[in-house]
Amino acid sequence: MTDETSNLRSRVWFDRTDTAGFFHRTHLKSQGHLKEMFEGRPVIGIANSASQLVPCNSHLTELAEWVSRGVLEAGGFPLVFPTMSIGDSLMRPSGMMFRNLMSMELEELIRANPIDGVVLLTGCDNTAPAYAMGAASVDVPAIIVHAGPMMSGNFRGRTVGSGTDIYKLYDSSRSGRLPSDAFAESEFGMSRSVGTCNTMGTASTMGLVLEAMGLSLLGTAGIPAVDARKKSSAQRAGRRIVDLVRSGTKISAIATRKAFENAIRVNAAIGGGTNTTVHLLALAGRFGVELTIDDIETNSRPIKLMANIMPNGDFLMEDFFNAGGLPALMKSMGELLHLDAMTVSGQTIGDMVGDAEIFDPRVIATPDSPFKKEPALAVLKGNLAPNGAIIKATAASPHLLKHRGKAVVFESIEDMDARIDSPDLEVDASSVLVLKNIGPTSYPGAPELGNIKVPKKLLDQNVFDVLRLSDGRMSGTAFGTVILQVTPETAIGGPIALVENGDLIEFDLSERRLTLHVSEEELARRRANWRPSTIVAERGFRRLFIEHVLQADQGLDFDFLRGASGSDPSQRRP
Ligand code: FES
Repeated sequence: MTDETSNLRSRVWFDRTDTAGFFHRTHLKSQGHLKEMFEGRPVIGIANSASQLVPCNSHLTELAEWVSRGVLEAGGFPLVFPTMSIGDSLMRPSGMMFRNLMSMELEELIRANPIDGVVLLTGCDNTAPAYAMGAASVDVPAIIVHAGPMMSGNFRGRTVGSGTDIYKLYDSSRSGRLPSDAFAESEFGMSRSVGTCNTMGTASTMGLVLEAMGLSLLGTAGIPAVDARKKSSAQRAGRRIVDLVRSGTKISAIATRKAFENAIRVNAAIGGGTNTTVHLLALAGRFGVELTIDDIETNSRPIKLMANIMPNGDFLMEDFFNAGGLPALMKSMGELLHLDAMTVSGQTIGDMVGDAEIFDPRVIATPDSPFKKEPALAVLKGNLAPNGAIIKATAASPHLLKHRGKAVVFESIEDMDARIDSPDLEVDASSVLVLKNIGPTSYPGAPELGNIKVPKKLLDQNVFDVLRLSDGRMSGTAFGTVILQVTPETAIGGPIALVENGDLIEFDLSERRLTLHVSEEELARRRANWRPSTIVAERGFRRLFIEHVLQADQGLDFDFLRGASGSDPSQRRP
């Protein structure tokens, strides 16, 4: 690390004596800033993804004030700038469709502006990976400040978790066990404050996983959104980013191969959402770190579930924080992690976990005595998913982890909606529900529809889980025996496209296998007759997405976004 204070990017803007320099300075002064505030000081961009359309992030503007306070204290000059935001609670067809767009926006905003280092205010599912990917491709010093989870949910005296309990309440309502007015009443009980989902959904997972990579100050992502310590942690991040700029520590110095391996292992221990795979694979691609879906399996497999949080367990994120949070969990993991990996604090993971303790062993277990013996996440291969598929084994039903059954095929989400609750649907508890055409290109972004609802016919028989598979994703808050991200997807002719009603499908978690028991000859015959459906997107971002998105095993990034372009502000021509 070198002292780069004399070589700040921002000096390219502010040290000029020509008309351009005048123009840059006069317009900053128009906001009342004295020149000594920005000349020679590290200029810290505070990227703000707050939006009232993204309730999970809506408090970030207040946190930006606390980051600014820290930046000023450390001798930097803070400038808050808004970016687009992605909310998985409102956006259609899926938040994921916009992750790459948000990452592009951040990358270009940083590069185009006099920013020496950046604090990234993130929260809802796709915002944290989008920001991390954007910062990676411009490669400046960066710290992530995560929104933190909302308050724990409570409905009629019972703890209810974001997402996880929606599915349970919905099934209760569909089967008539819960009156519709009570179902509606539960909405306010589930979401009691701003902040991200209070279960171990994608947002909490990504907050913790990126922190495990060293990209946030340790122990801060899990602080609840409305906890006063969230503000002080933002202030500390503001102080620290100035040090990172002064020492010339770029984000790429933190996000090493070891950091990614720590992230995968922590994801397994916390029972992280299945979306972690696509986010980490995409992020690694930006950093130029070699990481494959097989690395995710290799690093996940030895790790057992240590966090007893919904949808894998009984508690919520606030309980996780109070039980000691990520520092306690990582301390307990010990040598299962690369303890010498560096963090944005300037200390290693080993230094940072220090003497962290588990305060509530009901919530955080130890590697020797885990909550479940299955790894949270498993990567499957087989003739049905030659390039991989994902299952969250700890949120699945144990009796279905080795299973053979006949396929009940839905050609599209519309087909499924039309027939899933029909009394005529030929389905039983051993069936394997197959949903096609919700992959990255056929339903842009591969929406979180993979946890196909259990047919009403089965609910009426008190069957609440059944093996399901698709080329889509599912919410990190969801549960069930659900195989996701079957790759290649239907729309580009992956083997899933060839599955027909009644085909025998076999899933074996212990072997990590997903097999379609149809002869090669028959599959060849079907392939000869298969025709891709026409995917229509005449213009705009949707067209860009469909034409350039990579498959799930490559992180759903755009082919042209992998890698980095650096932070040189003088890039004027291709
Ligand atoms: Fe935003 Fe769950 S919908 S974190």
